Order: sequence, then C-alpha cells, then structure tokens
Amino acid sequence: MRQTIAGNWKMHGLTQDAASLATALLGAGPLTRDLLVCPPATQIAAVARILAGTPVAVGGQDCHSAVQGAFTGDISAAMLRDAGASHVILGHSERRQYHAESDDAVRAKVLAAQAAGLTAIVCVGENDAERQAGWETGVVGKQLNASLPDDFAGILAYEPVWAIGTGRTATEADVAAMHLFIRQTLVRRFGPAGEAFSILYGGSVRPANAASLLAVPHVGGALVGGASLKAEDFLGIARA
Ligand code: 13P
Repeated sequence: MRQTIAGNWKMHGLTQDAASLATALLGAGPLTRDLLVCPPATQIAAVARILAGTPVAVGGQDCHSAVQGAFTGDISAAMLRDAGASHVILGHSERRQYHAESDDAVRAKVLAAQAAGLTAIVCVGENDAERQAGWETGVVGKQLNASLPDDFAGILAYEPVWAIGTGRTATEADVAAMHLFIRQTLVRRFGPAGEAFSILYGGSVRPANAASLLAVPHVGGALVGGASLKAEDFLGIARA
C-alpha cells in the first residue's frame, strides 16, 4: 500500500501563505507516496483550486456531525466536500483537549464524513501522564473502540500528545509497539479488513527522522504539523 504524507496546517497562515505553499507543492515531481494537505477551513477552496488535477489531495481539520442546522460557527462534512476536500482529520488531540471532543462525538463526525463521501482520518494517542503511567495501549484501545463506527472505512493516525509540536518524537520502538497494537485491535474488530487500514504516525515528524519512522512496520505514512508549513520540509518528508 502506498504511504500517505498528510500536512495538518492547523491555524496557520493567511490566503497568500496558503496559496504560496500549495503552489510550491505543484513542483513536487513524481513521488512514491501520496500527499494530502489540510489547510484552515477558509483556505480549503483556494488551495483545492490550485491543486485541482494534481495528485495532492485536500482535507479539512474537523467537521460537525450534523448534515446542517443551527450550529453557529460549525462546518458540515458536505461543506468541506463542496469546497474541494476529499478527506477530513477528526478527533485530533487539540480538538479533544480544547473542544472537549469525546470519542462518541468523534464517532458521530466520522459517520457524517463518510456519508458525505469524505475519507476520515481518525486521530488517537495518549498524553504524557498516561504514557508515564504505562496506560498508553489502554487509552488508545478505548479511543479506537469508541471513536470508530462499525462501518469505518477511513485512515487512522497515532499521534502521541507528548510528541506533538515538542520536537520529542516517539522512538521507533514506541511507534512499532503502538502501531502493532493498533493493527491487532483493528483486526480483532474488523476482521481481515483491519489489515488494510492505513495507520499514520504523527508527532514531530521532520525530514531528518522521516525515513526511519516511515520504515517501521504498520506505519502507513505521516501526519505532519509544523514541518508541513514549509514546502521544502514537507516534500523532504515525502521523499525521505
Ligand atoms: P507536529 O508535527 O508539529 O508535531 O504536529 C503533529 C500534529 O499534530 C499533526 O496533526
């Protein structure tokens, strides 16, 4: 299976920055990995126009679980699709932490995304205290079981919270152990279909550590924050 390198731009950049970054990706040349960028919502349409007809896909960073309604400030999955997105990140730890998103809320969003024809990228990951206590597989197992619907057909992303934006990348051994655990959990739940889900790693991925992380068994690609804001670094990871 081809690996996916996804860039989560988070709440960074204005229209001109997004346009420059997207335009810089046009010159990527042939790659052995698939690319996806997830700009802030206001920039999805402009970035999708720039990347139309290229192999670089565009995604949102969140969506509401309802089809439409009186939800001021929210964005539906169909709206993301309409703006040119094919994917949406759901249950990112920053949504779970700052917006109190529960596993149930994430699961409802996944269902909405799938119904709108989007590929959901569901994030799971333990925080520092949970890892120190040795609870990481318990935490991630619970998140997986409760955040994924029975008809899940998307992508997973393992992002240990302590590795996000800290420069403290998980070791290859940590990543190998957790990705194997996630694979086994998926196979227990979904049967042979569980073998086919792509599981991205996210947390301080950079060009310098990408090759070794991407070589770990059951790592299906990377979900990149900070380093996705510079085309050179993002493409450096894609080529690693
Ligand atoms: P960093 O790559 O900046 O650590 O962010 C990871 C992340 O949260 C991607 O969703």
